[in-house]
Amino acid sequence: MASADHSPGSPRDRLGRPLRELRISVTDRCNFRCGYCMPADVFHEGYRFAPREDILSFEEITRLTGLCAQRFGLRKLRLTGGEPLTRRHLPRLIEMLAAVAGDAELALTTNGALLAVQAEALKRAGLTRVTVSLDAVDDDTFRRCSGGRGELRPVLAGIEAAAAAGLAPLKVNCVVQRGLNEHAVEGLAQHFRGSGVIVRFIEFMDVGTLNRWQAGAVIEAAEIRRRLSTVAGLEPLPPQHRGEVAERFAFRDGSLEVGIIASVSQPFCRDCSRARLSADGRLLHCLFAQDGLDLRTPLRAGASDAELLSLMTESWQAREDRYSELRAEVGEGGRRRLEMYQVGG
Ligand code: GTP
Ligand code: 5AD
Ligand code: SF4
Ligand code: SF4
Repeated sequence: MASADHSPGSPRDRLGRPLRELRISVTDRCNFRCGYCMPADVFHEGYRFAPREDILSFEEITRLTGLCAQRFGLRKLRLTGGEPLTRRHLPRLIEMLAAVAGDAELALTTNGALLAVQAEALKRAGLTRVTVSLDAVDDDTFRRCSGGRGELRPVLAGIEAAAAAGLAPLKVNCVVQRGLNEHAVEGLAQHFRGSGVIVRFIEFMDVGTLNRWQAGAVIEAAEIRRRLSTVAGLEPLPPQHRGEVAERFAFRDGSLEVGIIASVSQPFCRDCSRARLSADGRLLHCLFAQDGLDLRTPLRAGASDAELLSLMTESWQAREDRYSELRAEVGEGGRRRLEMYQVGG
């Protein structure tokens, strides 16, 4: 396994982990209502998202990201949301980030609904690759999974447009839930065979406290593998880097690469080198964080680069999060957690 990700020199947390990936949420809003993230009955028309003035500007995001890249040696920046493509003028932010990212790759996770019209501009601005969330390839299940707000066809068009724009490797993410879309495992595998798209299946996670998660609704990695092997024989692929979230496989006939993200049944906290910057400017050390380091207040109060750097460094050095491992050891606690739409996945 490559060990370049854990090269010496950058700050380590209490468990010896460096910070290599910054996941930047650019908005807490979304045009879909996936039940595992923003259930439609909770996130209704009157739901109050963060007020506009609390959301970081492009200049603020770029300044914090540039400092982080410089101090920690980031390998990857990933834009998330809510739905990142609902933020206006996103290609402009990508241009600004590309200028401070150093060697880090610049990726985006999107629901794909607005991707067809934006793919070219995103690529031109400096985006390297995209991952599209897609929970089914039949209209009815897709509509149910996206909370009645999404349509399948524009998402498939978005995937095609991203491929045509050269946003590669292109990945698709499917969160698998019992009783909702387990048949999508075979469906997506069949659909994307021979396309060059990498399909990843994700165990339903207990992010936040509003998505009615229950252990019984999780389709575990072993079942996902069993379902895939009814489509074609599977063989394991080696990890591409340390701390990778997906376990990779290929169909033996070479027609498809798949990944399984088993955060519930096989936690991967040990090598977790990811931090999240929320849309309202908090630095979060874990997807399951209760809160984060408020960077917006010092930023807007005129803090110097050195001051911001020392805040980020000290908080990373104090980090000891490993929620998924603890869940496996002691069970899911009822404590308050930030919601997926605030953390960005
Ligand atoms: P690649 O760079 O293509 O490997 O992307 P990624 O898998 O890191 O990011 P993506 O946004 O596609 O996330 C895939 C799934 O993994 C989502 O369900 C995320 O919520 C989940 N995920 C990503 N990072 C973490 C993490 O640090 N902890 C946990 N528990 N889940 C994570
Ligand atoms: N469990 C697993 N994955 C989730 N995502 C959103 N909510 C959950 C959840 N509760 C996925 C989205 C997207 C990625 C950023 O996170 O489908 O692909
Ligand atoms: Fe929106 Fe993504 Fe959450 Fe679905 S998972 S509601 S597309 S932010
Ligand atoms: Fe990292 Fe927290 Fe996910 Fe563990 S649960 S892999 S510490 S983000």
